[in-house]
Amino acid sequence: MKILAIETSCDETSAAIVENGVKILSQTTASSQNFHAKTAGIIPETASRQQLKYILPVIQQVLKKTNLYPLPPALYQPPAIDSLAVTTNPGLISSLLVGVETAKTLAFLWKKPLIPINHLLAHIYANFLHQLPVTSYQLPSFPAICLIASGGHTELLFMKNHKNFQWLGGTRDDAAGECFDKCARLLGLNYPGGPEIESQALKSQKSKLKSQNFHLPRPMLHSSDFDFSFSGLKTAVLHQLPATSRQLLSLSFEIQEAITDVLVQKTLKAAQKYQAKSILISGGVSANQRLRQKFQTAVSRHLPTIKFFAPPKNLCTDNAAMVASCAYFNFHPVPYQKITALPTFHLS
Ligand code: KG4
Ligand code: ZN
Repeated sequence: MKILAIETSCDETSAAIVENGVKILSQTTASSQNFHAKTAGIIPETASRQQLKYILPVIQQVLKKTNLYPLPPALYQPPAIDSLAVTTNPGLISSLLVGVETAKTLAFLWKKPLIPINHLLAHIYANFLHQLPVTSYQLPSFPAICLIASGGHTELLFMKNHKNFQWLGGTRDDAAGECFDKCARLLGLNYPGGPEIESQALKSQKSKLKSQNFHLPRPMLHSSDFDFSFSGLKTAVLHQLPATSRQLLSLSFEIQEAITDVLVQKTLKAAQKYQAKSILISGGVSANQRLRQKFQTAVSRHLPTIKFFAPPKNLCTDNAAMVASCAYFNFHPVPYQKITALPTFHLS
């Protein structure tokens, strides 16, 4: 089964065609990140105006890259796909509307089923995708503990199977990615802050500076629930802003250590409690190399029977392939007239 999916929940405009939920046949993603770097954060109207500009070219390109497009290529003719899927929630409402209304129009025009998808669950499915050529590949086994860490969310979920998700906890204030972004801003680094802090931290590690005299709190590390809190970290950073470039490297390292320590330890605690067979991480923050390394080490040391999964780096940030995969494993088409974009988090 071939599903064409559309993702426009934030500042990426992405379309992809995925076969049987696992094989990416083609994917095209346009990003308006450069615009947001200028304002050190996203202005929703700017993001949605860029979504409008990119949406049709991105869909056309993804169809052209496969041989599923009728000749001569024209968007009004139905391509050889089985279904459409689109992210409907959560996200920036003005960005979501662009993808949702485009998908509804195409479902009407092509007479294809349309599957509404939750963006957060979609992030998890980046772990079910593989890209050609495939050498060794294994699907995650259930039950699984899923950590979604992005710019807007930090959530821990218990995934019994494809149809059964239980929310265990999440951030009470800032998301992990948001904390990276806000700390980076305080340090005078560019947006998005996660990759910037990661690269400063790497330099600190290479020159053996590490955290030096900086020490930041690990918020809620030992709380009895599965919640997180990251807003205090940026305040702690504000109170010890670096005076030299060497201090900047060390403080970046310590910020990354504080955020990743909490993410890893709380996820492992959940995996132990719920006797998980797999741990799946996802979302923009899961591209962080230090986070992946810490998970790998901690899982093999403390929970060696559990398999740890992290998506390829290009599938950690927003993309349509994960939406198509989620739609395949949760195939519930809805008449297009009933589909609406929603800014908030709905698990079902
Ligand atoms: O999943 P995503 O692309 O968009 C949302 O749905 O929010 O995540 C974007 C977030 C940003 O906050 C960005 O700073 C963070 O992911 N991020 C990273 C890294 N790459 C992106 N955080 C830490 N390390 C990275 N390498
Ligand atoms: Zn996302």
